[in-house]
Amino acid sequence: MTEIVVIGCGLAGLSAAIAGAERGAHVTLVSPMVPERSQSVMAMGGINAALDLKGEGDSCEQHFADTMRAGCFIADPGATRRLAEAAPDVIDWLSRQGVCFTRDEQGRPAQRPFGGQRKTRTCYSGARTGKQLVSALATQARRYEASGAVTRLMGLRLLSLVLDDDGACVGAVLVDPMTNEAIALPADSVILAFGAPNGVWGKTTGSQVNDGCAAGIALRDGLSFGNLEMVQFHPTTLETPSKRMLVTEAARGLGGRLYALRDGRPWYFMEEWYPELGALMPRDVVSRSIYRVVHEMGLKHDGRDEVLLDITHLRADVIERDLDEVLDTCLTYRGIDPRVEPIPVYPGVHFSMGGILVDEGNRADVDRVMAAGECACQFHGANRLGGNSTLAAVHGGRLCAESAVQQGPGASGPRRDAALDEALAGARADIAAWSACGPTGEPSRDVRARLVQTMHACMGIYRDAAGLERGLGTLRDLFEGCRSTGCGESYYDFLSTREELRLAVAMVGSALERKESRGAHQRTDFPDTDDERYRATMVTSWRDGRARTEVRACQTHA
Ligand code: FUM
Repeated sequence: MTEIVVIGCGLAGLSAAIAGAERGAHVTLVSPMVPERSQSVMAMGGINAALDLKGEGDSCEQHFADTMRAGCFIADPGATRRLAEAAPDVIDWLSRQGVCFTRDEQGRPAQRPFGGQRKTRTCYSGARTGKQLVSALATQARRYEASGAVTRLMGLRLLSLVLDDDGACVGAVLVDPMTNEAIALPADSVILAFGAPNGVWGKTTGSQVNDGCAAGIALRDGLSFGNLEMVQFHPTTLETPSKRMLVTEAARGLGGRLYALRDGRPWYFMEEWYPELGALMPRDVVSRSIYRVVHEMGLKHDGRDEVLLDITHLRADVIERDLDEVLDTCLTYRGIDPRVEPIPVYPGVHFSMGGILVDEGNRADVDRVMAAGECACQFHGANRLGGNSTLAAVHGGRLCAESAVQQGPGASGPRRDAALDEALAGARADIAAWSACGPTGEPSRDVRARLVQTMHACMGIYRDAAGLERGLGTLRDLFEGCRSTGCGESYYDFLSTREELRLAVAMVGSALERKESRGAHQRTDFPDTDDERYRATMVTSWRDGRARTEVRACQTHA
């Protein structure tokens, strides 16, 4: 029987676990938290599939074309075409797993318009799509757990991938951050589904459990990453003390209007600047427009870096049914009732298009490692379409399982056991060494504060060489400092601070190397798009103690 270890239990991890079990493998599903606390539950808007239920002539081809165009033509075209083609089956599969989609009068999944798409193709469950998807898949995974096909290990974090002498992955070492106990799990394949690196950004629309530590470890352990500079700012997020809460694009899909007050009157800047799609332009365009209104034109709302999103003209029952979570969020966090007053919004970090580089079978470039969901780089290019992340997570998770089962059993016996024993002994020695000194050097909260501040200063909506070089210098110093002093209140705090810094160094390095503007990556010193050189993937790997980035040509957009 094929033994698969899945790291992460959000949509991608759950889909991989279920699909692996469906194919007769045994899956160990490892995560720090229960699925209901994964970042996937925060997805509000929906999941795309060209079902053409409104008779608009939609097709998988158009879904593919919209995805490639929004991603500025640097997504993997073969994989992206298959994503669009698989989408109707994904909706079907999810329905069979028990997902309660909002339905139309004929009982079919209802669909709504989303940004950057020419057709109505986003299926949804009110504004709680992520919660519905996760709860159905978590229930299904529990059924497999009861039958013995899935084993769940909770409260564990990745410490390292274990490779044998041939460079193939034979398992992973994990740690319980509460007890510092490390264990080694043998595996025929390891599927990475650990989500976004939110720790490098501080406040985002996502979860702080997804800190970026596992991504830093994957980079250290030899995986190549693609397009790390491509980070999406969602245009409409609400500032709260602990994070930026998402105000779903569905609010604009249903007719929400963005405006700023000019000479005391509402000015609907998106409608004036982009009459065709208005506030439903792709996210990078909307975010840059808000930036321009607030910072270049100085049209701030009440002196704050915010513009206004108006949905007061929608019927109250539509807001209560289809934008239920937006209503809750605004009332709970800011005491604003969007049925009767506008919502103050500003762009916030929302999604990493870059990540572990994978092929059409979601295989990474280390043998027997696969990746899916937000930690993988494949489908979204320079800017992701709303409703494609949930789709990519489910589709990618299933593909990972398919690849792992196809590869079947890997090495076993004394060589594999020796590799696992050695990795576990090394991990235990590192933990013991840290525990012997305890926290030293600069406190990790201060290091993290500087990491976050540096990332926002140099990797925001606009970037340039001077800022990126300055940021890279600061991050390298912080990384080196962390390596030698062991900052951190606990071993995991130390490890995650160091690995987030490693990843941040790689991200800024990649941004420096892409000397053009494309989608989410806007360089004021290189304002044009340079297709000749950079319709390409920036590939970053960690070699000889440094992040190295090279330009690799994309396949042609067929
Ligand atoms: O605006 C939203 O509901 C976000 C959806 C997404 O990122 O896919």
